[in-house]
Amino acid sequence: MSGHLPPPPAAVPGPRSAELLAAYEKVFYPGLVGDGYPFVARSKAGWTITDVDGNTFVDLVSASASVPVGAGRADLVRPAAEALLAFGNEDSHAVFHEAMLPLANRLLALAPNGLTRVDISLNGTESVETAVRVMRRATGRPVIIGFLGGYHGETTTTASLGAEQHEIGRNLRGLASGFVHVPYPNTYRSPFAPARPGGTGDPTVDFLRDHVLFHLVDPSEVAGVLIEPVLGSGGVVVPPETFWPALSELCRQHDWLLCLDEVKTGFGRTGEMFAADLWGVQPDLMCLGKAMGGGVMPIGALLGGERALSGFSDLATGSTWSWLPAACAAALAYLDVLENEDVLGNVRALHQVSTSLLGPLEQRIPEVGDVRVQGGFAAVEFVADPATKERFPVLQDAVAEGCLRRGVLVASSTTSLNIQPSLVMSPEAYAEALTRVLDAIDEAVQGIR
Ligand SMILES: Cc1ncc(COP(=O)(O)O)c(C=O)c1O
Repeated sequence: MSGHLPPPPAAVPGPRSAELLAAYEKVFYPGLVGDGYPFVARSKAGWTITDVDGNTFVDLVSASASVPVGAGRADLVRPAAEALLAFGNEDSHAVFHEAMLPLANRLLALAPNGLTRVDISLNGTESVETAVRVMRRATGRPVIIGFLGGYHGETTTTASLGAEQHEIGRNLRGLASGFVHVPYPNTYRSPFAPARPGGTGDPTVDFLRDHVLFHLVDPSEVAGVLIEPVLGSGGVVVPPETFWPALSELCRQHDWLLCLDEVKTGFGRTGEMFAADLWGVQPDLMCLGKAMGGGVMPIGALLGGERALSGFSDLATGSTWSWLPAACAAALAYLDVLENEDVLGNVRALHQVSTSLLGPLEQRIPEVGDVRVQGGFAAVEFVADPATKERFPVLQDAVAEGCLRRGVLVASSTTSLNIQPSLVMSPEAYAEALTRVLDAIDEAVQGIR
């Protein structure tokens, strides 16, 4: 250890990783192999990953934010293993098991007011798939409003609802109709003029009301809005205060359902249990997944109010392994962790570390266009020119590569360098890891000028 962190790796990839990766390339779908980090992992412990060459990396990605409190926690793994030994699996749509009701009740107790029903799913993607179908079934209307910059998964429906990058929806948009997109409320890159007199109070909702509903789609065709309350993969974009009241009011006026995709934000990532709690938003539906299984098992859920998720029973949902007992046991154990440990307090401390170390970059480095922090999420957006805000993916990738050489994993996403540490990483260790990220940024900026 150097300070709180393991020493940087000798070489990435090390010789054994390089050998294995060459073999992976011959066997796996090329789209899979090209997307990964250049090493092969052997084990994980807490917020570190050790590869087959013995290099240990600091994990600031947390398995796409699906491993919330680090790897290998016995208090999360053991209940899941015991449930597997006691039960194996069944199809929870057919044979109900004892862990289902306590889990459903605990989710509803934590969720925003008005959510009274639970449907079970295998993961976040399936929660969103179900949400889209439920919104259409509950309202009898076809159109769902989605947001440019949003990510919801990569199946045909979820990739068509999402619009983080055009590649994800390539060849699908013409097949999955019924989605209309508006720009995500992003104060750094808003294409809209500021809110004006006589408007809804928010420029994005003005655009939706005055342009989309005027020119494109009749409000009576719209089932509702499906939105990430804070953009996760799209780079920690936090809507302005004006957005939620204006959107909620528009939904009320037209009898639309408001569905929050909390798959990535849920269970503590933003510093609140759910991002909805940041503003007191009361959705009609909420999609859950990722961290819900404590980083141990895959599980998701769709929560809904009576109007959205009751009054009909003819929509078949989920899949065979949704809510297997081991996943429910892991989810219950993770809820215990959230109840008994001050995870949210630590997330707020991580927020402070991100703000104090990354925040000054905007002033110090012209190529840093925007730094965004929300709880255990941080994003740095690079630009070629601060005036034009032209995106600078080459610089971003160079920074990510520099981080890797320094033994720190970050996510180089479509719009930004994304950082999402374990929610229980100590602020001291996190600060040290960010110092390595800052070194990588300085090096890459010098190299590119
Ligand atoms: C906001 C959001 N929704 C849905 C999904 C899909 O979840 P999963 O890939 O775990 O099924 C993701 C995954 O990154 C996500 O970030």
